[in-house]
Amino acid sequence: MTDERIEKLHTSVLPAETLRFLDPKPGEVFIDATLGLGGHAELILNAEKDIRLIGIDQDLAAIDFAAERLKKFESRFEIKHANFSDIAAVLKSLNLPEVDGILADLGVSSLQFDSPERGFSFRFNAPLDMRMNAEPEIETAADLLANLSEFEIARIIYEYGEERASRRIARRIVERRERGEPVKTTEDLAKLVERSVKRKKNEKIHPATKTFQALRIAVNREIEILEGFLRDSIDHLKSGGRFCVITFHSLEDRIVKQTFQKLSGKCSCPPRMPVCICGAEKKIEILTKKPVSPDEKETEENPRARSAKLRACRKI
Ligand SMILES: C[S@@+](CC[C@H](N)C(=O)[O-])C[C@H]1O[C@@H](n2cnc3c(N)ncnc32)[C@H](O)[C@@H]1O
Ligand SMILES: [Zn+2]
Repeated sequence: MTDERIEKLHTSVLPAETLRFLDPKPGEVFIDATLGLGGHAELILNAEKDIRLIGIDQDLAAIDFAAERLKKFESRFEIKHANFSDIAAVLKSLNLPEVDGILADLGVSSLQFDSPERGFSFRFNAPLDMRMNAEPEIETAADLLANLSEFEIARIIYEYGEERASRRIARRIVERRERGEPVKTTEDLAKLVERSVKRKKNEKIHPATKTFQALRIAVNREIEILEGFLRDSIDHLKSGGRFCVITFHSLEDRIVKQTFQKLSGKCSCPPRMPVCICGAEKKIEILTKKPVSPDEKETEENPRARSAKLRACRKI
């Protein structure tokens, strides 16, 4: 890897703001639920000299990378290969009922997105894979397109990609498999979407961007697991413990916002409901009234930061 590429990989999103909200103090224990390349983890471990951090990631390539980067912290740092939806089990295995802070920087890392063979990007032709956890029992994006109904494919592309041409795209995908020529590669899919979407004048983003995002979210069940993870994380914080979540699209941000609101005691039941049924209970104090976004300087230097939103809370 070139120095410039390594430098780019190392750029974590909203570093100063994340540290400010996590507010690490000597002797505290942190979970980085999305270890990735270890950028945020390194910041946290460097903040105070006897902090302990457990990094979780479902991607073995990320774990290899972060392990090398963070080995200087020796016994203060540990890695668990797991899905963060299993955070409760991970903590149990470590005999750690509660921790002082948890961070989740959601989505894919540049290591994943820029690895041609992982199939996350239409910039490289490769099998349509998109699994963050590349274990064989997990279905790839090509598997989903081969097995799901036309209706389900359209729903995924519409809901997770907010793509208006979702039904046309799904129809063409299913036509291809009915002809015995299923869509199997990134190039195949990108071309099919390009032919299905009416391109707006001056449109800067590639027409397949939304469909690729949608499939990635579906393959990794990113939306389904989010609320459960947020609730489990908050349940495993000490009183006064801090939780930071960084999201990259509005679907995720909405779930974080609404879950935090519910857990801060705000009832969202219809006005005439005689008793509260929405699950509101006061467990946290929200630290970010509005989500925190990167400033212009950060987005210029790190394009991935463009759509980042950070929300933070503190356990009561
Ligand atoms: C945006 S990157 C994190 C970058 C990291 N904060 C840094 O500064 O280098 C997200 C990472 O989270 C991992 N990830 C995403 N969803 C996950 C999940 N449900 N369980 C475990 N890891 C997940 C991905 O594999 C990826 O490595
Ligand atoms: Zn309610």
